[in-house]
Amino acid sequence: MKEIRKVGVLGGGLMGSGIAQVSAMAGFDTVVREVSDAIIEKSRAGIGKVLAKGIERGKVTPEVCDSTLSKLSFTTDLAELASCDIIIEAVVEDLEMKNAMWKDLNEICGADTIFASNTSSLTIAAMAAACGRPERMLGLHFFNPVPLMKLVEVVRTITTSDDTFDSAFAFARKLGKEPVRAKDSSGFIVNLLLIPYMIDAIYALESGVASVEDIDKAMQLGAGYPMGPFTLLDFVGLDTTYKIAEIMFDEYREKRYAPPPLLKRMVIAGMYGRKSGKGFYDYSVEPPKVTSLGI
Ligand code: NAI
Repeated sequence: MKEIRKVGVLGGGLMGSGIAQVSAMAGFDTVVREVSDAIIEKSRAGIGKVLAKGIERGKVTPEVCDSTLSKLSFTTDLAELASCDIIIEAVVEDLEMKNAMWKDLNEICGADTIFASNTSSLTIAAMAAACGRPERMLGLHFFNPVPLMKLVEVVRTITTSDDTFDSAFAFARKLGKEPVRAKDSSGFIVNLLLIPYMIDAIYALESGVASVEDIDKAMQLGAGYPMGPFTLLDFVGLDTTYKIAEIMFDEYREKRYAPPPLLKRMVIAGMYGRKSGKGFYDYSVEPPKVTSLGI
């Protein structure tokens, strides 16, 4: 099995910063690649805030916070990921962009560096075929918020070697996560079941079954979910959900994965959910209130 000491993370957004945090917290030297210094600062500040909150709540000690920050570095230069043992990619859900990075990394990384994608819906095989090291490519699918969510889907495609799979599975455990095995089919386990559920909630809202608040309350209190579908959509990001649904629809050609028009319009309007301050709820006020969508 490949021994992992240094971890590279591509993208310091919602998922990338969470993955980088848990990696540094588990003691791995972790370097995050982002596209600009401004985004790096945002990502660094976001991680600092999460750790500070952890201290406030007594979940993280000041020593753990300091050692986590000391293990973390940020760069805009892809070449600084050359010495990583595993690279976890968490950039926007766009196959061409992801593959362009894998091709560049294949040139600069050691031959046995593992390439792992956090994609929610793209086929791992499509990255394996393009990256130049199909046997070293697999999926490591984390959940949002990464520091809190225990699950990681470890996704094996038809070209993934046993060593790559076993090394990544063991690495996920070292991060303090619960890994599960999943096949390389679009949506893996969780999104295969969750995306149609969130889509159905939007259709239910559009057709006037109930309000955002009542649908959320009903699924929380009636189905025992920790949060309702609209709160969850705002958490995941409406832009990300839209892209995932489009890709799954493209793969399976089934209506239950088709993104509803309302979701598309909200994404066009920049309502991405929590990360943009507004989605099905408006987060500029405390407590957040339901956004008026004129429906
Ligand atoms: P996000 O939009 O918050 O972050 C993406 C980041 O990638 C941005 O900060 C952007 O500046 C950066 N980026 C773009 N091009 C880059 C490049 N060439 N090099 C380095 N960084 C680059 O998106 P989010 O939500 O973090 O999603 C990232 C990936 O994780 C997607 O593939 C998504 O499907 C997947 N994912 C998302 C989940 C969620 O709940 N949002 C859950 C699990 C997986």
